[in-house]
Amino acid sequence: MLRYAIAGTGHRAGLYVDALLGPHRDDGAIAAWIEPNPVRAAAYEAKAQAAVGGTRPRYDPADLERALAEQRVDRLIVTSVDRTHADLVTRALRAGVDVVVEKPIAAHPEQARAIADAVRETGRDVVLTFNYRYSPRNAALRQVIAAGEIGRVRSVHFEWALDTRHGADYFRRWHRDKANNGGLLVHKSSHHFDLVNWWIGGVPERVFASGGTKFYGDAAGHAQGYRPSAREDELRAQGVDPWALDVDGDPWLGALYGPAARAADGYVRNLSVFAPGVTTEDTLALVVDFRGGAVMTYSLVAYAPWEGYRVTVTGTEGRAELAVVERGSVDVDAAGRSVLDASSTAVDIPDAVRPKSEQLVVQRHWERAELRPIAVEAGGHGGGDAKLLAAVFRPAAEPDPLGRGAALIDGLRASGVGYAANLSLATGLPVRLADLALGVTL
Ligand SMILES: NC(=O)c1ccc[n+]([C@@H]2O[C@H](COP(=O)([O-])OP(=O)(O)OC[C@H]3O[C@@H](n4cnc5c(N)ncnc54)[C@H](O)[C@@H]3O)[C@@H](O)[C@H]2O)c1
Repeated sequence: MLRYAIAGTGHRAGLYVDALLGPHRDDGAIAAWIEPNPVRAAAYEAKAQAAVGGTRPRYDPADLERALAEQRVDRLIVTSVDRTHADLVTRALRAGVDVVVEKPIAAHPEQARAIADAVRETGRDVVLTFNYRYSPRNAALRQVIAAGEIGRVRSVHFEWALDTRHGADYFRRWHRDKANNGGLLVHKSSHHFDLVNWWIGGVPERVFASGGTKFYGDAAGHAQGYRPSAREDELRAQGVDPWALDVDGDPWLGALYGPAARAADGYVRNLSVFAPGVTTEDTLALVVDFRGGAVMTYSLVAYAPWEGYRVTVTGTEGRAELAVVERGSVDVDAAGRSVLDASSTAVDIPDAVRPKSEQLVVQRHWERAELRPIAVEAGGHGGGDAKLLAAVFRPAAEPDPLGRGAALIDGLRASGVGYAANLSLATGLPVRLADLALGVTL
């Protein structure tokens, strides 16, 4: 049974902690928390004590090497703020410990390079947890393409819409400052870029990007014409701020980010999305060239009235189209609350025009369109979370015919598109991934 340390005990850590305290308790034990905020670490420690008993110490990130040695840690799970990934990953590898790291592998290209160098130097293992690969609908598209049904992929058209609840969440906290995460191009879109790389077996080579902060923040929000809608006015008259996250109204969010946690480090979880200080873009358009000639157009907005994505893949023998509505509209309950990330839970708001839905259509040249079945499984991300956790905690027992397991190279190819796009935004020119010198041949 492996001994794990968890670095970064914020909300995301819960996925791994709950697994190790629950369905995967026979696969590994939590030996330590690596977290600067004692209140957040204590919230998880209380959870662990209730579930499995015993005690697990908290260490400051500065004492990572001591923690790994004293607690005889085999594997470090990194679920910390993106800009801290590279420091934690490289130090753990050099201390002789394998790493499981949340996306993005690193916030900035020089940090990614540092990880690549440490992997080369130590020969140790880094697992990237790209959970979207495990969603049945994404796997279904991968199967269609891998089976050659649409021939050689020549074109990808990919649109992702984040809504005014989930998209807004990136502008309430550290994600709003690009220094912390490389902006949404790295923090969020790297998920999407990884999906495309995986779907088409593609290696991205060149990126041109355009976009900016056109909605959130003080300057964009107000100078560029944001006006509260009649519906927003109506909600405000009822005492509800539809843009706000009610941290103290939710016991678990309160434990992680409430007054006691805030007092310890000043981390404010629910800043106004229109407050000054936003450097992260909310509107992005990319053109990406892949080795072998495929091209992609990609769009991301973080303030849509509904959430989901549409991807059209055209090959030499036909076309596959995946359309997903994760949430048809952002509804708030009487207390002004709604689920933050609709894709991670089973929310179903009845909607005749835009119901929560997923549809995969395949059409070969000269043939009729066909609807393809998508497996329906219980749990977050359409059952994908459980599969991802099984792959992380029981790798030997999990067959992987679709090649869902992701390693360093996949993380670099995905984030690399984001790094190149950031450089393109800054220079106004197309950028080759090879020129980023990420420390490996992509
Ligand atoms: N795959 C997904 O769908 C998904 C979803 C959400 C978050 N994530 C990833 O998980 C990570 C955490 O996100 P979150 O929403 O939980 O953020 P969060 O802000 O809730 O938690 C981050 C935690 O890291 C801690 N921290 C800060 N500096 C640290 C350091 N040097 N060492 C260790 N811990 C440190 C913070 O105090 C905080 O407790 C991010 O990298 C994010 O990209 C992935």
